[in-house]
Amino acid sequence: MVEEVGAYQLEAKKTGDYNVNTKGDNVDYVTDIDVESERRIVAAIHAKYPDHAILAEESGLTDKESDYKWVIDPIDGTTNYVHNFPMHAISIALKHKEETVVGVVKLPRINMCFSAIKGEGACLNGEPMHVSNVKELGQSIIGTGFPYTRKHFNPGLPYFNDMVADIAGFRRTGSAATDLCLVAAGMLDGYWEFGINEWDIAAGILCIEEAGGRCTVTEKHGALLVITGNADIHDILVERVFNKSI
Ligand code: IPD
Ligand code: CA
Repeated sequence: MVEEVGAYQLEAKKTGDYNVNTKGDNVDYVTDIDVESERRIVAAIHAKYPDHAILAEESGLTDKESDYKWVIDPIDGTTNYVHNFPMHAISIALKHKEETVVGVVKLPRINMCFSAIKGEGACLNGEPMHVSNVKELGQSIIGTGFPYTRKHFNPGLPYFNDMVADIAGFRRTGSAATDLCLVAAGMLDGYWEFGINEWDIAAGILCIEEAGGRCTVTEKHGALLVITGNADIHDILVERVFNKSI
């Protein structure tokens, strides 16, 4: 199903026949394609599992009092999608009693599909993937992001400034689901970000855990904070971003 929805998103980009709206803040985009992609994903899930609950970015929670909940971001990185920057993803997770058991993140533009099943490992385009083995922060490539809704107060910036001279480099894809999967595939050594949402991270976190990495999801400065990496870099990032007061 992610293949069909990804193809639809690319086709829609070719015709350019869609509207771009904003959600409150003037850089937080939502397009007709986000909404229609989500409708197609939800319809496909409901057709097979009519009793399952669904949490989706554009339509919110459809609570069916089920132990199963699907968590969907139809386009993670909508700003990238609008601007033709190729890092945008469809992110779908299945939770059973709040534990994620399946995760899929598809980047249609660059044809990468990350997937994980609880207890069975994680794959990139069907091949097993693993987190990196870089142990020192100084050798690490670290991902981060800057949430749209916190344009005027970005709790991540002091930590970014504090860390930037101590690492090999920051990378910023503009898609949290993508950042997480790049950690899972060992292409980033760690990633942290303030102000993310459950649909941005549910699938990618399972990919990291099943690829041998670690994730911490917590709150700080009034925002949801996710910190991830291979085990060594994750622990260092927890010290530098969560435990340190700046
Ligand atoms: C956004 C992206 C971005 C992150 C934002 C998210 P969206 O998701 O994941 O990288 O910095 O916090 O909201 O809005 O494009 O689905
Ligand atoms: Ca989205």
